[in-house]
Amino acid sequence: MIIGIPKEIREAENRVAISTDVVKQMVKAGHSVKITSDAGYNAGQLNENLKLAGAEIVNDNADVFSSCDVIVQVNPPDTSQIELMREGTILLSYLYAYTQPELVKALLKKKITSFSMDAVPRISRAQSMDALSSQANLAGYKAVLLGANALGKIFPLLMTAAGSIKPAKVLIFGAGVAGLQAIATAKRLGAIVECTDVRPETKEQVESLGGKFLAVKDEDGVKTEGGYAKEVSAEYLAKQKALVSKHVAEADLVITTALVMGKKAPILVSADMVRSMKPGSVIVDMAVESGGNCELSEKGKTVIKEGVTIIGETNIPSLLAVNASELYAKNIWALLSHLATKDGFKWEMEEEVTKGSLITKDGELVHAFTKGLISI
Ligand code: NAI
Repeated sequence: MIIGIPKEIREAENRVAISTDVVKQMVKAGHSVKITSDAGYNAGQLNENLKLAGAEIVNDNADVFSSCDVIVQVNPPDTSQIELMREGTILLSYLYAYTQPELVKALLKKKITSFSMDAVPRISRAQSMDALSSQANLAGYKAVLLGANALGKIFPLLMTAAGSIKPAKVLIFGAGVAGLQAIATAKRLGAIVECTDVRPETKEQVESLGGKFLAVKDEDGVKTEGGYAKEVSAEYLAKQKALVSKHVAEADLVITTALVMGKKAPILVSADMVRSMKPGSVIVDMAVESGGNCELSEKGKTVIKEGVTIIGETNIPSLLAVNASELYAKNIWALLSHLATKDGFKWEMEEEVTKGSLITKDGELVHAFTKGLISI
């Protein structure tokens, strides 16, 4: 098959869906690889190295879209890019299809068969294909650095001749992949770290990284589906607020990572809670793209409100484009080699990874979860 990798067009996107390593593996498996010139420049994947690895470098995205059997990219294509693709092209990228009815319509109209990287099931044998995890892991690390950089304090306890400095307090909402990496990173830098999550099973994970778990007492417990937290009740959120308010007020850095699959992110840090924080404190709202966990955060902006710096960076993995691209390219290749051989796709429609990640096929929306959330 001819596999094409365009240059990403999302603003401030530094990542690319390929690496020299993965080009070599694709070529070894019998595929041809076409990459838009300079697609990997911001991620350290230079034309000359990609070419040496066996790829063909072409001048523009239009060439890639119109001449390849399979297109792999990070962000979803826009409608003008879909127009350039041939009918029957196979696309692998993030799609978040359940929030993007117009994108799904455009894919259906052009009979593009699409797999979404955000829909790969979180099962053990699909871990190597799990781009949500590879990117969230890096983002959790970077969020701590962004927060630390905006804070007028150091993290560790420091005893000097001029006096002692108390360690900084970091509070993390959500102990998923990003939250756990944030705990580990903040601990390594010497902070005192606390974390809360609706899933009680995360207590042990938080504690094993040296964090203190703030547990909301709730008799009904919290339901999960495929490992994901479900939306919690207003009563639960009120109990959580009562528990964490004091800790938010005392924190130097708050990092929020709480997401609920298919829903707007829950508001966990209200305007009141921001007001209670010390001037100069920092919030990094990692959920800002899904509506935000902090009532006062603004998508894509760093703002100072009530004396608190609130960072609403929407694409943290792009700030670590070198590692993020290498890992994403590996995720893509793991998925592609699971789904296809050099002679084409296997179309095992009942197989769990295929069923979980296939969104559109031959002009039909086939993904059950997406069908339940959008009307076409
Ligand atoms: P996510 O990005 O969907 O959510 C982040 C965290 O926010 C989750 O831990 C969630 O429980 C928490 N959260 C949701 N509502 C909250 C609230 N109101 N207050 C506090 N916290 C709240 O999660 P992520 O990182 O994508 O992980 C989702 C699940 O998938 C986890 O159970 C994780 O362990 C599992 N997983 C399994 C993998 C595998 O077996 N291959 C790989 C990666 C993740």
